[in-house]
Amino acid sequence: MRLIITGANGQVGREFEKTAGFPGLEIIPLARNELDITSRRQVEKTVEALAPGLVVNAAAYTAVDMAEKEPGKAFAVNREGPLNLAEVCRARSVPLIHISTDYVFDGTSRIPYVEDDPASPLGVYGMSKWEGEQAVRNVLDEHIILRVSWVFGVHGSNFVKTMLRIGKERREVRVVYDQHGCPTPAADIAGVILSIAEQICSGRTDAWGTYHYSGLGETTWFHFAQKIFSMADSIVAFSLPVIIPISSTEYPTPAKRPLNSVFDCSRIKAVFGIEQAPWEPGLEAVIRAWKSEE
Ligand SMILES: NC(=O)c1ccc[n+]([C@@H]2O[C@H](COP(=O)([O-])OP(=O)(O)OC[C@H]3O[C@@H](n4cnc5c(N)ncnc54)[C@H](OP(=O)(O)O)[C@@H]3O)[C@@H](O)[C@H]2O)c1
Repeated sequence: MRLIITGANGQVGREFEKTAGFPGLEIIPLARNELDITSRRQVEKTVEALAPGLVVNAAAYTAVDMAEKEPGKAFAVNREGPLNLAEVCRARSVPLIHISTDYVFDGTSRIPYVEDDPASPLGVYGMSKWEGEQAVRNVLDEHIILRVSWVFGVHGSNFVKTMLRIGKERREVRVVYDQHGCPTPAADIAGVILSIAEQICSGRTDAWGTYHYSGLGETTWFHFAQKIFSMADSIVAFSLPVIIPISSTEYPTPAKRPLNSVFDCSRIKAVFGIEQAPWEPGLEAVIRAWKSEE
């Protein structure tokens, strides 16, 4: 089966570079300059030319705060893009795996979010991702929407790399302690997608719908930062900054963030047999890669 992946230069997209997937799979990564998902014509031409058996959408506008200033761009990529993909996939009977986010929720729940909890995004990014999900659901039955949270990886920019950079520059780092979530290695997300793809490739047709996946182990950004620095210190002898816990109100951002981003991931386990993996090995891999690039 031929799988095309959009947004191939992103954190998640780049994780498909080194994997062969499974026997019989051919992966064709497409960066933004090879396929701009906001162009209906490009989507049509690409899907027609490559005739994939499955499309994975890892392309997104992910600048959460900038989205408040340029909602047009966010909605073009996060709503119109998935709509284009879903419509073209429907016309050609091709399934679509689309990645979404914990930011579709407002974070006011006191328990982990299940897939059917009502969406209530706090900002433009979350709303654009929610409307992208809805576009996929409304247009194409054969879809998987995979919501993930707190993504970090070797490629691109993310919280882990930001902490490592500013931890080297400053003696003191202030990090919010009241947002709860589960970090998720980009490499593990690619693995989850391939596992779902393999089941679709084997003829699975009873599992379309929305799923949550995150790394195993709830934390806060403050505790995650502590773990990043202590692991960095044990791997590369990092000079540890002082980490000061602050509340979200002490760190105002253009877009509000959910206080609770924790997912209940039991559906993906029950349907696909996919278990949450601890995020610490992914963190170690990012720290080692960061050290080797220094
Ligand atoms: N990052 C997180 O913490 C997080 C958390 C929850 C969910 N998610 C979701 O996880 C998915 C993957 O996120 P990520 O962290 O891998 O994002 P990322 O690193 O920002 O990568 C997104 C990729 O999409 C590309 N792109 C942007 N506009 C495009 C367009 N019009 N056509 C084609 N490609 C386009 C970007 O291209 P350029 O390289 O040219 O900019 C970039 O390579 C997204 O759906 C995101 O919403 C992310």
